[in-house]
Amino acid sequence: MKFFIDTADVREIKQALALGVLDGVTTNPSLIAKTGRPFHETIQEICSLVPGPVSAEAVAESADEFIKQGRELAALADNVCVKLPISEEGLAACKTLTSEGIMVNMTLIFQPIQALMCAKAGATFVSPFIGRLDDISATGMRLIEEIRVIFDNYGYATEILAASIRHPQHVVDCALVGADVATIPYAVISKLLSHPLTTSGIEKFNADAKKIPSA
Ligand code: G3P
Repeated sequence: MKFFIDTADVREIKQALALGVLDGVTTNPSLIAKTGRPFHETIQEICSLVPGPVSAEAVAESADEFIKQGRELAALADNVCVKLPISEEGLAACKTLTSEGIMVNMTLIFQPIQALMCAKAGATFVSPFIGRLDDISATGMRLIEEIRVIFDNYGYATEILAASIRHPQHVVDCALVGADVATIPYAVISKLLSHPLTTSGIEKFNADAKKIPSA
């Protein structure tokens, strides 16, 4: 499973890169707004740091405007992946942009049929939002499972990019049900390595190592 980081904060991206397991980045307008920095400049900087796909979201009301913005975003760097919301306009833009060789990540997926429509339109990624479904007492992981079955039934190459991840167990479950990518906030990435028994085990080994007589 690929690991993307879900942030527009360059400091967090550099910290995640240092772990050696980062395959890409996803951003959205809320994450960009949080940085207080200009959109295009931020995306260009992230693209220069991370070789994998970097999702940059277009915000528009018509397919033509999505296509125009998508082309502009794709021109910023070779690894830009244009993010579009699932809607009639977004789907039409997805078809046009992917036929031009531009990567597209279709976002705000809450139903398997939305994902199937995106795959038919040639999407590179679909982003089902697990946490936001769990937040309303639905089962986010079930959505990933169902999309996995549908894509495998027909051999769609569209990758399932699990988004809205809230905790390490979401990451484990994504790997178990076969998501292609998990996009993870830095706060969750930093929890992926820790376990209380690992911490106490390291402390004990370090303490005992000091008791070993030097030769
Ligand atoms: O980037 C999309 C997604 O990961 C959003 O997550 O936490 O705002 O539901 P969240």
